[in-house]
Amino acid sequence: MDEAILAIDTSCDDTSAAVVLGGVRILSNVVSGQLGVHERYGGIVPELASRRHLETIEGVVEEAMKAAGVTFPLLSAIAVCRGPGLIGSLIVGTAFAKALAWAHRLPLIGVNHLEGHICSAFLKEGTPPTLPFISLVVSGGHTSLYRVDGLGQYRELGRSRDDAAGEAYDKVAKMLGLGFPGGPIIDRLAKAGNPRAVAFPRAYLPQTLDFSFSGLKTSVRNFLLTKDIHNITVEDICASFQAAVIDVLIRKIERAAAQENIKSAALSGGVAANDALRLRVTQLKGIETYVPPKPLCTDNAAMIGAAAYGQWLRGDFADMTLNPRAYLPV
Ligand code: KG4
Ligand code: ZN
Repeated sequence: MDEAILAIDTSCDDTSAAVVLGGVRILSNVVSGQLGVHERYGGIVPELASRRHLETIEGVVEEAMKAAGVTFPLLSAIAVCRGPGLIGSLIVGTAFAKALAWAHRLPLIGVNHLEGHICSAFLKEGTPPTLPFISLVVSGGHTSLYRVDGLGQYRELGRSRDDAAGEAYDKVAKMLGLGFPGGPIIDRLAKAGNPRAVAFPRAYLPQTLDFSFSGLKTSVRNFLLTKDIHNITVEDICASFQAAVIDVLIRKIERAAAQENIKSAALSGGVAANDALRLRVTQLKGIETYVPPKPLCTDNAAMIGAAAYGQWLRGDFADMTLNPRAYLPV
């Protein structure tokens, strides 16, 4: 049997555990969200998130092991997300993983959450992209472009200088009084709106592969405060805002591919679950694209298992001194 790794992710508000075989085959991938905990605050409350992780982690791990049909002696390692993320949430996952590794005498692997998102492209749920490829990780906390030459071989090409794309979605949804998380709601409403109704700005930043979304967010706010918004529906605002985000993401993938002379690209992160973005990437000319199924785009532990396999092969293990980090570059 290939190496079976139990992976855990508690970086933000989802408690997740998965068993992944040989870095590619998902035997189980359990995600317990925190629906109902954060909505009324319009954003994630870190203290509430870590308390909920504490309540759910044991059951989520048990469920993942049961669904995979494995027992601890069959595992090769325990992997856990060690950052970046909310520090209280990360502490719950890393402490739990350390205890499991110690009790079952298994090697421990500390995984970077962003490497996890990049590695979701390797999970055998579709045809993974041809190496090397451009990876766009576009989530609530990050919007970053990488060149990927293989498992464990990544180079950052650009990142957001301010808000992540998902953060902009969530904040715009809050301004519109739509609820949290805003991404899926805007995605749905935008389908009934006109993307050309409002000409929101696109920050293309032509000299760099970095991103900036805070100006767009401010522009939506100013529009809501000052403009004559008769005849413009909420759906139109959603569609116009979303078009501005996607235009920038698509242009940056094209530029990164041209700069690196690479012909394939993969997307991941929560915003990669967006239907309009998923459609637009398939229309990219001369670039073969891969977008994982939606449950592998949003936070999940299977992607941590995929990244951990690369570390297992390299002998990159952690020990009981493993400490999580809120800030942790790839
Ligand atoms: O990767 P993820 O689950 O967690 C982080 O690591 O941040 O991403 C969550 C983000 C949230 O900002 C959420 O609004 C956004 O992804 N999101 C979406 C969609 N589904 C989730 N944004 C746009 N369209 C969607 N369908
Ligand atoms: Zn994430």
